[in-house]
Amino acid sequence: MLSKIKKIISKKNKSKIICLTSYSKNFAEEIDGYADIILVGDSLGSVLYNYNTTRKVTFKNMIEHSKSVRMGVKKSLMVVDMPYKTYRSKKEALNNAKKIIKETKCEAVKLEGGTKIIKIIKHLINNKIPVMGHLGVLPQSVKGKFRSKGKTEKEKVKLLEEAKLLEDAGVFAIVLECIKTTTSKLITNYIKIPTIGIGSSVYCDGQVLVTDDMLGLNNANIRFVKTFVNLKKVINEGVKKFKKDVLNKKYPTKKYSYN
Ligand code: KIV
Repeated sequence: MLSKIKKIISKKNKSKIICLTSYSKNFAEEIDGYADIILVGDSLGSVLYNYNTTRKVTFKNMIEHSKSVRMGVKKSLMVVDMPYKTYRSKKEALNNAKKIIKETKCEAVKLEGGTKIIKIIKHLINNKIPVMGHLGVLPQSVKGKFRSKGKTEKEKVKLLEEAKLLEDAGVFAIVLECIKTTTSKLITNYIKIPTIGIGSSVYCDGQVLVTDDMLGLNNANIRFVKTFVNLKKVINEGVKKFKKDVLNKKYPTKKYSYN
């Protein structure tokens, strides 16, 4: 486990870190080995359950999906998001992080925030829980519309300070979500651990996307999402072919039937 984390840290300034989300075994199997990190993100709330906020994602949701993902992950580092209201105190965070690791066999957890949760993050790390940080847009804290971060001098300075705080606390990488290009570049150059961007420019050490978004499954109308393949179309073609064959009695033929 630690060697996987060390390998990820050692990629800084050498090669990009690839991170994708997964919420199930079948997707995880296809991503495993290609991505350095497979994240069971609480984005599963909007992607799978149509929730308008990740705050509705439960601990049970995260455990069940992570267990499924674990079955498909052999090579990548598996990180699980700690959902909303599961890390409000040091005690609560440690109990829940331990449960997540025990039940899902993931290798690290991710928490959203900087200064406000720094004591909690330190407590987890002091108790040997590997932690990935998350700064910029923090979906668990946003009420209403998302607005990119790091545009004003005040926000820029705060983000730089928080990134350093997280590094000093011992997180092994930080997700930077929707941070202005010049600010994410500054942060990336300022800290020694890798930054993993989502909507935060090419200057981050790595990139993460929600897999369903980049496969065109989620109708995501978000500036930073690029559709790399239109899986909806592929699925639709398969469904239509199945329907046609059944209607025309071309399926199941003898080959697919028991004698
Ligand atoms: O929940 C999630 O999938 C995330 C990524 C988008 C970074 O936090």
